Amino acid sequence: MTRVETRSAAGTPPDSRPLLVLLHGVNLDLLGERPAQHYGTVTLLDLEMLVREEADAHGWDCACHQTNHEGDFVELVHRYRQATALLVNPGAWTHYSYAIRDALELVSGPVAEVHLSNVAAREPWRRVSVVADVATVRVAGKGAQGYVEAVRALVALVERSEAAGEDEDATV
Ligand code: DQA
Repeated sequence: MTRVETRSAAGTPPDSRPLLVLLHGVNLDLLGERPAQHYGTVTLLDLEMLVREEADAHGWDCACHQTNHEGDFVELVHRYRQATALLVNPGAWTHYSYAIRDALELVSGPVAEVHLSNVAAREPWRRVSVVADVATVRVAGKGAQGYVEAVRALVALVERSEAAGEDEDATV
């Protein structure tokens, strides 16, 4: 599991903070200009700041990326496959990219799939998510608040699995 090492000023041993990675896919760079009835008026920067703040409130670091190139998205998943947790909104790739689905399968920590809009209540093709089976957390239709909920769910999952691991250690 990748943690960010930060050395304290006093030269004491480095702190190790969990790392949350936020990945946005195709067309999400233009949030704020996209149809407001589905996506509201929030911008990509707003979402990134919101997620960074929520992660920081839990003592986590956060890395944010957006790309309109499917292969680059796959490369980002590869790069961060050992991060503590991934929060992804792949945009339209959600509905057909088996390449992204297969990359997400390699991620060691929990993955959250988040959509601003309620994809289940839109066109039939948006009701299909090919990444759903590799996501532990799924949130849709809650706008920006859905991202906050996803961060909280990921943090809770990681804390619960760490506590379970510690319990196991204690019984050995
Ligand atoms: C989206 C939903 C997708 O169907 C769409 O292609 C997007 C955004 C959402 O956040 O609601 O680009 O992922």
